[in-house]
Amino acid sequence: MLIKKDSDFDRIHIWHPYSSIKQPLPCYQVVKAEGCKLKLNNGKMLIDGMSSWLAAIHGYNNPRINLAIKKQIKKMSHIMFGGITHPSAILLCRKLVDITPLPLECIFLCDSGSVSVEVSIKMALQYWLGRNENRKKFLALQYSYHGDTFAAMSVCDPNNSMHKLWKGYLTKHYFAKAPKCGFYERWMIKDFNNFYYLIKTHHKKLAAVIVEPIVQGAGGMRIYNPRYLKLVREYCNLYGVLLIIDEIATGFGRTGKFFAFEYADIEPDILCIGKALTGGTMTLAATITTREIANTISNSSANCFMHGPTFMGNPIACAAAIENLNILQDNYWINQVKNIEKQFFKYLLPLKNLQQVADIRILGAIGVIETYKAINIATMQKFFVEQGVWIRPFGKLIYLVPPYIIKQNELKKLIESVILAIEYPLNFI
Ligand SMILES: Cc1ncc(COP(=O)(O)O)c(C=O)c1O
Repeated sequence: MLIKKDSDFDRIHIWHPYSSIKQPLPCYQVVKAEGCKLKLNNGKMLIDGMSSWLAAIHGYNNPRINLAIKKQIKKMSHIMFGGITHPSAILLCRKLVDITPLPLECIFLCDSGSVSVEVSIKMALQYWLGRNENRKKFLALQYSYHGDTFAAMSVCDPNNSMHKLWKGYLTKHYFAKAPKCGFYERWMIKDFNNFYYLIKTHHKKLAAVIVEPIVQGAGGMRIYNPRYLKLVREYCNLYGVLLIIDEIATGFGRTGKFFAFEYADIEPDILCIGKALTGGTMTLAATITTREIANTISNSSANCFMHGPTFMGNPIACAAAIENLNILQDNYWINQVKNIEKQFFKYLLPLKNLQQVADIRILGAIGVIETYKAINIATMQKFFVEQGVWIRPFGKLIYLVPPYIIKQNELKKLIESVILAIEYPLNFI
């Protein structure tokens, strides 16, 4: 059968994230993306409120990153990383050592965020193998989200996440009650009781604790109190458990700090980064750990770290990441994120008074609107496109994570569209 229209072919043959081939939600065809604007195939321009899921922090088609990619392609687009290294991987890793806390100095380059979490889990397990200790369990948080591959899914909240389906298939781990105290709320120690109980009871079995720092993303866009994270670090130290911090969504300035763990004034033992690492241009992530952990991994019977994907350290992705870090080192992001936050406080926070709105959460360049009713995603998505904006809600959440370069009037338009969307009853189930 010859399917003539691209949109029909896409609908019938192609899976999109969390989509059904049988009854897919509509997809919009983007033919160009530039700065903060997406151009659809019908010529309509949309202001982007998503940064392609927190990746495109400098907007699209950034000339500096594009140039870096072009220069790299002229030299080589890919070369195997086994037995071979190359200047872009070395320079990128030098930069990663520089921008992360001092003890983090051994880097594993990965293909995606989920793989970076897989690698962090493997690192923790192999570390304990290297110490001849039988530690196979992880402690994560309720509402956590760490990716879609199997080990990553096993540390996602088994009840409240999109991975509920896989509950009977995944390795069972421990989940502490999620922090309730919001970022700006008065800290209450009872928030930490359940975590304390679990780490105290099970620490001898625990390979690591894994957390999203300050912002729990896909599990509910929850923004929690830094005191919780600080205590997580303290109790990992007290009970000798490794701490994996998953900065895949929060890293590179999104929360107002370069890394969100800085709010708690702590350092991880293993750090996962991804998404914005290449400014949203290429898929690349990294897992970074300490010399002591890296050395201990090599003490295990395997003698080496047991992972090595085909496209590890892809030179084009490394070149894009280097230029992304160069742009961030110019430090414009600090004011850009501050200005976005200011505008969120001015125009988004008052939405709290709307009867449809359960909560507003703001931190850095993240603005979250939680509604009482579940959102009709297809209807609201269409509504947003008609308004000329790209915002992708889920569950009861509409969230704005625009590129840092967004202009004031563009952000205002995003917020105004959210207000209109909330007031339109058919947008809710
Ligand atoms: C905190 C966190 N960890 C891991 C991942 C998985 O990253 P990826 O989608 O690149 O596999 C995500 C993706 O949204 C994330 O938000």
